[in-house]
Amino acid sequence: MTETLAQAAANQAGARMDTDAYARASDFLPLNGIDHIEFWVGNARQAAAYYRTLWGFTPVAFSGLETMVRDRASYIMVRDDIRFVFTAPLTPDGEIAEHVRAHGDGVHDIAFSVDDAASAWHETTTRGAVSALEPTDLEGGEDGVLRKASIRTYGETLHSFVDRRDYHGVFAPGYRRIKDPPRAAEGLRLLEVDHCVGNVALGEMDRYVDYYRDVLGFAQLIHYDDKVIHTDFSALMSKVMTNGNGRIKFPINEPAEGKKKSQIQEYLDWYRAPGCQHIALRTDDIVGTVRRLRENGVEFLGMPHEYYATLADRVGDVGVPMDTLEALGIEADRDEEGYLLQIFTRPVQDRPTFFFEIIERHGSRGFGVGNFKALFEAIEREQAKRGNL
Ligand code: FE2
Repeated sequence: MTETLAQAAANQAGARMDTDAYARASDFLPLNGIDHIEFWVGNARQAAAYYRTLWGFTPVAFSGLETMVRDRASYIMVRDDIRFVFTAPLTPDGEIAEHVRAHGDGVHDIAFSVDDAASAWHETTTRGAVSALEPTDLEGGEDGVLRKASIRTYGETLHSFVDRRDYHGVFAPGYRRIKDPPRAAEGLRLLEVDHCVGNVALGEMDRYVDYYRDVLGFAQLIHYDDKVIHTDFSALMSKVMTNGNGRIKFPINEPAEGKKKSQIQEYLDWYRAPGCQHIALRTDDIVGTVRRLRENGVEFLGMPHEYYATLADRVGDVGVPMDTLEALGIEADRDEEGYLLQIFTRPVQDRPTFFFEIIERHGSRGFGVGNFKALFEAIEREQAKRGNL
């Protein structure tokens, strides 16, 4: 493979994209994409209202006391190809209440859409995955049968395998469709999950890279070492794993030694376990979407004026005036394949743990490595305000 100038520059900076990664990913575990992401939260009704009125998600289904479920309440929230589940405990005992007590609100399950949940479970558990749910047929009466199985990944996070081929209900057996749902926020373009990032403990990154390679058949797309992801104070390392069709991208971060506390360590201290750090949602109109999200009350990380003063020299024309990017706090980056625009929210719950990214891609399959230093300095300013740097 001939190396372009941009690749050479990226290699020197410590970031390496392996464009053969998709071909190297194994096909013993065909994954169609992400079926849904389930969050375990303290109050699912209020979480659903937050995602409806600020983020424009529509509640489509519910389960809880009214559907004869006694221990939990769940709301299914969708927009375009993104499906979130918010589940809260109804009793002080049990795994959901314990999870919320230990971790606060957070991601419980990043579930894959598959054609054969039993095969996915067998292929992964025979390669070393720990089972969380053996292959199970969930009978839905005239709606058909939903087939599901689950394995464990970092921390208390799960990957479920969901086969909907013989199921025609709203989400899963036990859920009731919400008729005439209340109006969701409008004017937003959020299309699909672009990537999900996991934070693991110091020294654990390679263990989970091996896990995604050996157990799920993923391949490593990019490696960012602490030479590229560092500020004067702190550092982290990251490797990006992808499946064969490229629809699923999982960066795995671990903290690196620095003069002060890595943002990854801050997450681990407050989540009290490895877990999902952020989910990136892909848009095709980041300017209009961020403008609307800000109006709705979503809080984003701020970037300093100096970042924008040199941005045009670094990325060239990205189709949006620099003063518009600065006014909205949107970042830009360019690599050998194209460019991307991105922005990061503040944590969306009280603990400094999970947050969102909004990303608009124009050719680039990267993750904004050119922004890492400025971004991490912005995060450190927030860490310092929290007394956590
Ligand atoms: Fe990201």
